[in-house]
Amino acid sequence: VNSPCLGLRKACFLLSVSAAALLLLLLPRGQPPAAPRRRPPPAAGSSRPPPQRPVSGSSAVSGTRTGSREEPADGAGGLAGSSQLVRKSRPGPVGGSGRESLELKDIFIAVKTTRKYHKSRLDLLLQTWISQARGQTFIFTDWEDRELRLKAGDHMINTNCSAVHTRQALCCKMSVEYDKFLESGQKWFCHVDDDNYVNPRTLLRLLSAFSHSQDVYVGRPSLDHPIEAADHVQSDGSKTTVKFWFATGGAGFCISRGLALKMSPWASLGNFISTAERVRLPDDCTIGYIIEGLLEVKLLHSPLFHSHLENLQRLQGESVLQQVTLSYGDPENKHNVVSVGGVFGLQQDPTRFKSVHCLLYPDTIWCPAKKMS
Ligand SMILES: *[C@@H]1O[C@H](CO)[C@@H](O)[C@H](O)[C@H]1NC(C)=O
Repeated sequence: VNSPCLGLRKACFLLSVSAAALLLLLLPRGQPPAAPRRRPPPAAGSSRPPPQRPVSGSSAVSGTRTGSREEPADGAGGLAGSSQLVRKSRPGPVGGSGRESLELKDIFIAVKTTRKYHKSRLDLLLQTWISQARGQTFIFTDWEDRELRLKAGDHMINTNCSAVHTRQALCCKMSVEYDKFLESGQKWFCHVDDDNYVNPRTLLRLLSAFSHSQDVYVGRPSLDHPIEAADHVQSDGSKTTVKFWFATGGAGFCISRGLALKMSPWASLGNFISTAERVRLPDDCTIGYIIEGLLEVKLLHSPLFHSHLENLQRLQGESVLQQVTLSYGDPENKHNVVSVGGVFGLQQDPTRFKSVHCLLYPDTIWCPAKKMS
């Protein structure tokens, strides 16, 4: 209810945005706009002072979710009905005309992390799924860590963003992820968190159903209803709101290059941060706002992405191996893990990621040898 957007500023903004969009259309296809040097990263206090409100107070969002990891993982109750909102159709193109031969190297996978999780979370990912997708996975963090640099080389990107868990700092990272993706020239942008397991095969299968030149935004909605944000102020002072769905960042989501290019006026080179400030939304909500709210492209609701906010115990056996992303509970709720047996015990593999990995890639050197039976 309190997103005070100045009408004038809005008008100027829209004008410049239209101009930028026009320019973008005139650019040769497939050629990302030449990236000028990044501006110095907007630290927690950037040139335009951000409103000093905690993320959780963001009442511009109707709904309870605030897009942050700080949320108690027992929020699963709120998501109990979420399977209902998943469209019955399999995530795939309407006609099937979008099929193209896609390879893993066409996908840019951004993993968002922070200094304090380099050891506890990143090592596990490097050991498991990242080892199967090294070439296309980039780690976005906020600290120049020598050890991680040795392991990841130039696939570790120091965003120079602040390490605090605020909306501004998270948006800063998303902004760098987006820019690096555009620079990469790859066909798909996928964002995940450092507590996600990505199954490279099912990810590839999912995205192969589309064309990267179509407008595709796919992921799991975190609420069972669209959120509403105030974005316009009309001449009579009344506010208009925009309703949109967004994919929860904690479960991972993907965006086609075609769509990512259209987002550029609101997302590239620091614009993402100002867009998020304007609507006062967390990073993943802002992505949804740009795509559904501004570009009017619909989120494809997929049940294959999973965050720690769900009841992960519901995923059992074979079906665990068919998901695109998995996650595990926060320290406070560490028993919220997927149910997969037979490889490592809970002691050895509390997140279950090692077990999942050995079932998917049994030839991995540290996996137990297959039983002869
Ligand atoms: C972060 O700062 C370092 C050192 O100034 C610089 O080399 C690097 O390119 C910066 N990272 C980004 C993403 O701008």
